[in-house]
Amino acid sequence: MTRPIRLALVGCGSRGTYLASLFKSHPLCRVTTLLDQHRAAAERAAGKLGLPDARIETDFDALLRDAPVDALLITSNPMTQADLACRAMERGKHACTEVPAAFTIDDCWRLVETVKKTGCKYQLMEQTRYWGFVDAWLAMRRRGELGHVCFVQGEYIHYESHWNFWTDPQTGEQFGSIDPPEGRKTVPTWRQTCFVDPIYYLPHTLSPLLKILEDRVVRVSCMGTRLGSHTHPTSSTPVRDIEYALMHTAKDTVMSVGAGFTLPYIIRGALGAHWYELRGTNGSVESPRCPEDKFRRWRRGEKTYTTMELSSTPLDADASQAASGHGGADFKPVDSFLRAIDGDTTPPLDAVLAAEITAPAVLAAESARRGGVALDVPDFRAEKRG
Ligand SMILES: NC(=O)c1ccc[n+]([C@@H]2O[C@H](COP(=O)([O-])OP(=O)(O)OC[C@H]3O[C@@H](n4cnc5c(N)ncnc54)[C@H](O)[C@@H]3O)[C@@H](O)[C@H]2O)c1
Repeated sequence: MTRPIRLALVGCGSRGTYLASLFKSHPLCRVTTLLDQHRAAAERAAGKLGLPDARIETDFDALLRDAPVDALLITSNPMTQADLACRAMERGKHACTEVPAAFTIDDCWRLVETVKKTGCKYQLMEQTRYWGFVDAWLAMRRRGELGHVCFVQGEYIHYESHWNFWTDPQTGEQFGSIDPPEGRKTVPTWRQTCFVDPIYYLPHTLSPLLKILEDRVVRVSCMGTRLGSHTHPTSSTPVRDIEYALMHTAKDTVMSVGAGFTLPYIIRGALGAHWYELRGTNGSVESPRCPEDKFRRWRRGEKTYTTMELSSTPLDADASQAASGHGGADFKPVDSFLRAIDGDTTPPLDAVLAAEITAPAVLAAESARRGGVALDVPDFRAEKRG
């Protein structure tokens, strides 16, 4: 692979621009191209990133055909990302996308099959799996300190009233309110479509939990509140406040996992909107429930919990990496993707693993729509689609 790896940012919103800044400062990478459906958004990103000479594009096919790029960071509307990534890989470009990786089982398979066919690198940019306590809990589980983990809980209940639920279709200007802004011609952003079934966002939760368990989900059932927020009863925005799924894994763990984006929540200390618990035959571990709380463990036979000095900072992060977003984890998928391209290795969160943490969420949304019916998750490690 020639160095530096030339990267295009596709989708110049807040997340993409931030991740592009991490790519820009990585020694293996040069950000050459910025694409957005709104030229103004790409130009704004060029200004924020200090890239006055970056190529600005609005046409994805033209970018694949003509732009000087080896790899794409795709942070557009998440409903478009799997398709854009597969089209890029078909043209020999490596691709990484953001959570959630896909909204259909077909797109999960398409990612897996396109990587197999093209040999390109694909990585999902889910980063909470790199948190320091996740690796510490994984080591504890491997040492047998939890015994067989029978039950796991996790949730991502994250409500920010200023999130961009509306956008001006002409300019791409975004509006931070759940109700449509008065006096403006706006259309819903991807957040509304996605948050109709907030459980679609579950890859964020399944990623660290399945890493700790070294397991995969095989069966899913889910229920949610009505379509129409109880937090915003007068709003016509069609979202559910919460969905919660029960899942069963191949190695016999029951998981209770949920997501919601319009339900007010208590901040879980350094983990913000995330919370986890694992309960095994030898003991249990739990992340903080509130800012005053600590990580804690319980060993079989003990009267109560013991505090654990753990944090979100990845165990191998240096000081500058630890300063990256989401408790120091944001640099990890950036670094892993570039090293996988440079060294011709498989990225740690590749297409198969991405499908394994995404398909249960896709099926949970379907289950909720069908009254909680239990659905089987495909085996993405099989040679072919079943
Ligand atoms: N891992 C995390 O912690 C984390 C945090 C925030 C957001 N995200 C994810 O990042 C992604 C982007 O989020 P965001 O908040 O930046 O969204 P955003 O809506 O602010 O930005 C998306 C940008 O993509 C552009 N766009 C949309 N569809 C396009 C298309 N088909 N072609 C070209 N441009 C297109 C839009 O004009 C917009 O500028 C989402 O998948 C989101 O879930 C992940």
